[in-house]
Amino acid sequence: MNQKKISGDVYSPSQQVIDKAHVKDWNKLNNSAFENYLDFWEKEANELHWFKKWDKVLDDSNKPFFKWFTNAEVNIVYNCLDRHCETPRRNKLALLWEGEKGEFRGFSYFALKRETCRTANVLKSLGVKKGDRVTIYMGRIPELLISMLACARIGAIHSVVYGGFTVEALHERLEDSQSKVLIVADGSYQRGKIVPLKSIADEALQRAATVESVLVVKRTGEPINMEPGRDMWLHELLALPIANSTCSIEIMDAEDPLFMLYTSGTTGKPKAILHTHGGYMVGTYSTLKYVFDIHDEDRYWCAADPGWITGHSYIVYGPLLNGATSFMYEGAPTFPYPNRWWQMIEKYGINILYTAPTAIRGLMRFGEAWPNRHDLSSLRLLGSVGEPINPEAWKWYHRVIGKDKCPIMDTWWQTETGMFMITPMPCVDLKPGSATRPFPGIEMDILNEQGESVKPNEVGNLVIKTPWPSIMRTIYNDPDRFVQQYWSKYPGMYLTGDSARRDEDGYIWVIGRVDDVIKVSGYRLGTAEVESALVSHPAVAEAAAIGLPHDIKGNAIYTYVILKSSVVKHDKLIEELRQHVSHELGPIAKPEHIEFVESLPKTRSGKIMRRVLRARALGEELKDLSTLEE
Ligand code: PRX
Repeated sequence: MNQKKISGDVYSPSQQVIDKAHVKDWNKLNNSAFENYLDFWEKEANELHWFKKWDKVLDDSNKPFFKWFTNAEVNIVYNCLDRHCETPRRNKLALLWEGEKGEFRGFSYFALKRETCRTANVLKSLGVKKGDRVTIYMGRIPELLISMLACARIGAIHSVVYGGFTVEALHERLEDSQSKVLIVADGSYQRGKIVPLKSIADEALQRAATVESVLVVKRTGEPINMEPGRDMWLHELLALPIANSTCSIEIMDAEDPLFMLYTSGTTGKPKAILHTHGGYMVGTYSTLKYVFDIHDEDRYWCAADPGWITGHSYIVYGPLLNGATSFMYEGAPTFPYPNRWWQMIEKYGINILYTAPTAIRGLMRFGEAWPNRHDLSSLRLLGSVGEPINPEAWKWYHRVIGKDKCPIMDTWWQTETGMFMITPMPCVDLKPGSATRPFPGIEMDILNEQGESVKPNEVGNLVIKTPWPSIMRTIYNDPDRFVQQYWSKYPGMYLTGDSARRDEDGYIWVIGRVDDVIKVSGYRLGTAEVESALVSHPAVAEAAAIGLPHDIKGNAIYTYVILKSSVVKHDKLIEELRQHVSHELGPIAKPEHIEFVESLPKTRSGKIMRRVLRARALGEELKDLSTLEE
């Protein structure tokens, strides 16, 4: 028996799916993990390789700065590559890759290790050492994964900047991380066009002083500027004897940093979330194994971008830790036609597809004929992440792509959590639109402003009560902000920043962010970042950004701009401002709508009241204006 009878619109998995699953009885696993979650994580950790095992599974003596697997010695890359190379998996495909133009590359575990070692040796020859930061800025190409793994192999901390970000976003991240080396591609392909990554980087580098060396990956072959003494072609260095195919692995403390990844928060600049070699490894390994039910024969495709946490955890580390065969595609889902994804699922025999609601909604609007032209029978499981999935999109995905036989793993988690936190497993009954219940061993709650648990179906703040191994360790360079932002509203509990409700069956329904984070097509942006990009334009005096509902993107960015008094409004100014945001931050941040206003609603202390702007834009009644200045 899978679980007690639950109510509502319920989709139960077939016996076939349950028979194959690692976990056939969710309640049993959940109960045992709850009895002692440390035992649960210790057992998971014991499935991986450690140079030296831990003294303690969890050290919570300095909350909220938790430490996991204290004094253990490990390197995540050993578990991603070397461990498999000692078994017959050595010759198994680790990575299958298709470029937007249709070219194919494949890497066995042996080949991926070899290429990682070669790039690691190049980094070492540039003087990169344990603890140094390296920024990586590319499209979805194998060199992105290889660069990440090469850094981690020698103990350097990678900071990947999403290839859809542009000048100021890259500059800020280079400067905050104090990166010594930047690895960048000359360009990337998106919808048949070239994104000039290297020239964007050149502009960012003029604003950032710390970078000593730039390694350039040749992807497009378009002419680019190469700065003598700073810029080097990676392929030229890889041809030198220094780039040999063995590279000793750095032995890391379990708590040593693995990477930092910038994400948007409530105020100000993006913050660097820090993850470690030990705990992050255990969390991503275990969650992917159970939730996407990885078996040796599977071909798994996470269609996210490695520049975001989903890619870090579930394109790069999770699949390699599990010895899976992962597929990665460079380009846009609809290029050259809206059947591109379905064509590749058929061509490579993909068994598991993990994507975002925005992509599903985007593909849905082209109709069923496109997927129906392809044989999608290899699919066994589907996944969703990044924002709440509306039941209509869920049902389309289930029926048209999954042919009513593939359960959908709607996984709720965050850059900060590193791993799935609320998620079903294949054996669980599903309700479209709910990510179901917390992963075994994780206790979550929904609280009102007074810190009390709300009643079933009441909305409140989603919090996490138990520590988990892949929890962020801190904000790089800003531990106070880490404590203040996540641990101060409800003492001892992690504040997610999301609102949610829990139904009578204990199923959680995430509603969305309660802070100033906007999710545009699943990408996380801060209102403050969009506002500062606008204000950096000479015509703008002040700006306010909000997110409003959008059919495909989930949220779209609406902005209100006060122009400087000397500026004369003209027809092209709106487009000029939109282009400016795109140039500074990235095309994903381009405002959908810009309205010129004379003033902005503010509190007496001068904070913009975005909820007033939102209510006005949606034509809603304005509630509680007591704090409004005027
Ligand atoms: O609001 C939640 C939403 O995405 C936020 C985290 O964004 P990010 O750090 O970029 O990570 C995204 C990928 C893990 C959350 O606070 N979110 C993520 N997954 C879901 C979701 N909202 C509803 N359902 C989900 N499955």
